[in-house]
Amino acid sequence: METLVKKLNFFSLKKAKRLVRAGQLVAFPTETVYGLGASVFNEEAIAKIFVAKGRPQDNPLIAHIADKKDVLLLASSVPPDAKKIIDAFMPGSITVVLPKKPTVPDRATGGLDTVAIRMPASKEARRFIAACGTPIVAPSANTSGRPSPTTAEEVYADMNGKIPLILKGKKCEVGIESTVVDFTGDIPVVLRPGIVTRSEIEAVLGKKIEVLTDTTQKVNSPGVRYKHYAPACPCVLNLDGNKEKIVARYDEIKAEGKNPVIMCLDGLKADFVGLNVFGMGESDKDFAHNLYGALRELEKKYDYIIIVWNADTEFADSVFNRLERVAAHNLL
Ligand code: TXA
Ligand code: MG
Repeated sequence: METLVKKLNFFSLKKAKRLVRAGQLVAFPTETVYGLGASVFNEEAIAKIFVAKGRPQDNPLIAHIADKKDVLLLASSVPPDAKKIIDAFMPGSITVVLPKKPTVPDRATGGLDTVAIRMPASKEARRFIAACGTPIVAPSANTSGRPSPTTAEEVYADMNGKIPLILKGKKCEVGIESTVVDFTGDIPVVLRPGIVTRSEIEAVLGKKIEVLTDTTQKVNSPGVRYKHYAPACPCVLNLDGNKEKIVARYDEIKAEGKNPVIMCLDGLKADFVGLNVFGMGESDKDFAHNLYGALRELEKKYDYIIIVWNADTEFADSVFNRLERVAAHNLL
């Protein structure tokens, strides 16, 4: 199959709508990462998503909407806490898990009786969803297990030959996936941390919520079980910025005849003068914005990535959640 990359505009959206309505897949930009979209009500189209990504069948998808009232097309009820969060944060980088309507196919939700719903902040994403005239189920548009794509070029690298159309929009501003919050139990639970933080959610609800921490124990969000975001070369994650330790590891890898690189915030670069260093910007937000693209770039040039992450904000913890997986829990 030939894969077209088209700038997102009036004309490409017409084409995208035709394809989605015919049960094909279309990749599109959002403010978090690029999505691989299909109509939520078309089971055959949804099946193609799992094939194109090589994704385990039991890993449920997020349904994306362009209008808040479409929550009711998908959810059988909206508990009061969920309503407050929808009012406060949608459109935005948050996904709410609610009881699903029987009309939502099992294939979309991995057989669960709940559905994950998100209304992206990205206007480009909402234009695409609105043009299709149906909620769009979309996982990140990467091959399963690879870093999520934040540009149309990165989508193309993984999806070339597998889907007919990639809508090219802006590089994703946030750079990591949405915060996923489950509202189907007594207390809301953050299943996947993101740019919308626990304390922001607690401030709106006026009460404490839970955050899923032990990824091996609870399986509420099947996606957290699988290997994720892995670049092609080994990675190690340092969390204290200890210069001696980092340089010692760098030298060890070098002595093995390999070519390592250090990935860190710009402020730490001065510690590693004369070594291969890749600056990720000034803030935790810059780091997230650059993360997946940097991994895809660095894996081409180097054999070993030493990631230094000692930022100390609530959002930094969300980034840490991804870095742990990038480094396959390999800590320095
Ligand atoms: O930012 C995002 O959320 C991006 C963009 C494209 O919107 N999408 C995304 O989708 O990250 P994906 O498929 O890569 O991750 C979806 C996550 C998985 O961890 C999955 O297990 C969880 O959401 N999820 C989906 N439906 C669920 C449900 N009914 N119950 C619990 N977790 C669910
Ligand atoms: Mg994903």
